[in-house]
Amino acid sequence: MPPLAQVLERCATTPPNILATLQKVQATLGYVPHTAVPEIAHALGVTDSDVAGVLSFYHDLRTEPPGKHTIRFCLGESCLAAGAEKSLAAIEKKLGCELGETTKDKRFTLEKVYCLGNCALSPCAMIGEDVHGRVLPKTLADLLKEYKK
Ligand code: FES
Repeated sequence: MPPLAQVLERCATTPPNILATLQKVQATLGYVPHTAVPEIAHALGVTDSDVAGVLSFYHDLRTEPPGKHTIRFCLGESCLAAGAEKSLAAIEKKLGCELGETTKDKRFTLEKVYCLGNCALSPCAMIGEDVHGRVLPKTLADLLKEYKK
């Protein structure tokens, strides 16, 4: 059975929980392709528009495959106070993409979060499962080098 069908089989609930289903599809496939909307809607007994509406509303749901590494850049209060906006501008320039986008080489996807629980080392970013503190414009090149191998 294809991965999407397996997820949908487990998500058939009454009443249907569209958001939870889309989160499970994303956890399994890495994103929720627009082409999967009709199948998801059919499995949940809702309309395509219901699913598409939830998919477009929640920015944590991706409709394109993510890059090899997802960078979750923190824009929480502590990180903003420590200069996160300058670091973010530097990382966007270095990667050639903005928040919500994936680099052309599909290596990095840049997303925002609001606190990684590492405020003492602000500004912070999470790359994959690794949390990094003191993410400053001058340290970005070395940090990203680790993930370009
Ligand atoms: S606000 Fe960024 S880690 Fe807490």
